[in-house]
Amino acid sequence: MNTMPLLIKNARIITATDDYAADVFCAGEQISRIEKSIDAKSCPPDTEVIDATGKYLFPGFIDPHVHIYLPFMGTYAKDTWETAGRAAIIGGTTTLVEMICPGKTDEPMTAFETWLGKAEGTAPCDFTFHMGVTRFDDLAERQLREIVKRGITSFKVFLAYKGALGVDDRELYRTLKLATELGVVVTAHCENETLIAERSAELIATGKTGPEFHEPSRPVQVEAEGVHHLMTFAELTGAEVYIVHTSCDEAVREATRAIERGVNAHIEVVLPHLVLDQSYTLGGGPALRAESGDPFEGAKYIMSPPLRDKSQLPRMWNHLRSRAISTVATDHAPFDFETQKCMGKDAFTKIPNGIPSVEDRINLLYTHGVCEGRIDLNTFVDAASTKAARIFGLKGKGTIAIGADADLVVFDPAFRGTISGKTHHMATDYSAFEGWPINGRPSVVTVRGRVMARDGKFVGGSGHGRLVPRG
Ligand code: URP
Ligand code: ZN
Ligand code: ZN
Repeated sequence: MNTMPLLIKNARIITATDDYAADVFCAGEQISRIEKSIDAKSCPPDTEVIDATGKYLFPGFIDPHVHIYLPFMGTYAKDTWETAGRAAIIGGTTTLVEMICPGKTDEPMTAFETWLGKAEGTAPCDFTFHMGVTRFDDLAERQLREIVKRGITSFKVFLAYKGALGVDDRELYRTLKLATELGVVVTAHCENETLIAERSAELIATGKTGPEFHEPSRPVQVEAEGVHHLMTFAELTGAEVYIVHTSCDEAVREATRAIERGVNAHIEVVLPHLVLDQSYTLGGGPALRAESGDPFEGAKYIMSPPLRDKSQLPRMWNHLRSRAISTVATDHAPFDFETQKCMGKDAFTKIPNGIPSVEDRINLLYTHGVCEGRIDLNTFVDAASTKAARIFGLKGKGTIAIGADADLVVFDPAFRGTISGKTHHMATDYSAFEGWPINGRPSVVTVRGRVMARDGKFVGGSGHGRLVPRG
């Protein structure tokens, strides 16, 4: 499928810093002209003209934390690059950064090739990876150096998931030293794994096995301790670090305290921690609880770090508004309720962790953030696109400028709709946001100049996505 020239007229362009009216013309994969008014007659005859009157024009959104191919907790995440990529694009996200999560005995290079092979030729959106470091020895080090040379300039470490993906302190220290030497960013899941293991065992032993006990097994102190731990290691190694999915004020404050004393750290929040709270793990929130009365519905909302007390939500929004939090990702980790979440019927420790949300991030962030006055339009774009491009060196991404990739979202703020697992495009059999209203949605989405979605429908082809070059 060829890319046709595209003229977007009468747009209100929003970037991380600007808000202005202009027309945008893309001759191919990049933006070629941005002018107050571009006459269609000055463009090639086959140009498609999109009238964006009354709509916003945003840069394509970037989700810097997703899981698509994920062998985890005895099963595999549900999506493929085909399903997750389509869902992402329909929801306005044009670039995904996936976590490569090798098993402890896997070789990093083999894992890299496996994850890359699943995306290349299949992904409709652009993509790159954070290279998971789940072991650190001489072989792993040699291969990590090679992987960085191939353009994967960020690592991922887990301080949680004891015995599975987690690294010990020696491995953490060496990974951070290597990252400092190579100038790569280390993303980290910060929770104290020993505290989680001990507390989980205590709860299960006393018959507290339901999904509602997942949060008490890893309360805010467990996460704050994990962040503190990473900050100490980052300070002593000089590594640039990025804390994924901070869920609570206590964890954010540990990070900001370290940043104040010079630690080079960035903070991510994920959509579920901005709009959902711990009560959802008690039978799936008010609506589901009333409908089914089954307390195990709460399994749909199990992720780590867990959903927190609802008093945390305004505090997290405040950190986002003040831009102490840099990015809003999803941590999209899709597992079916009927066949996968149910593996934890007898013990919350066996419920595969994760909430599917790659399709809903932009619409819910706009609805609950911008429409509710919690964040302004520039912060919205910065947190959901620009900052991720800057931190992870995604060339051509994250803004609207001449020469930037023509990843564009024409967004209709007048649209009104409802989220449902019956109509969403992710592969899971449920939505964590069933019945939730949305104000606004993307009406046209382009990936490097090609129109890939229109009004909630995927109109692109497979395999258009490519590995994003990184600085
Ligand atoms: O619950 C989560 N977050 N699942 C995916 C794996 C991870 O920790 O990021
Ligand atoms: Zn994690
Ligand atoms: Zn994750």
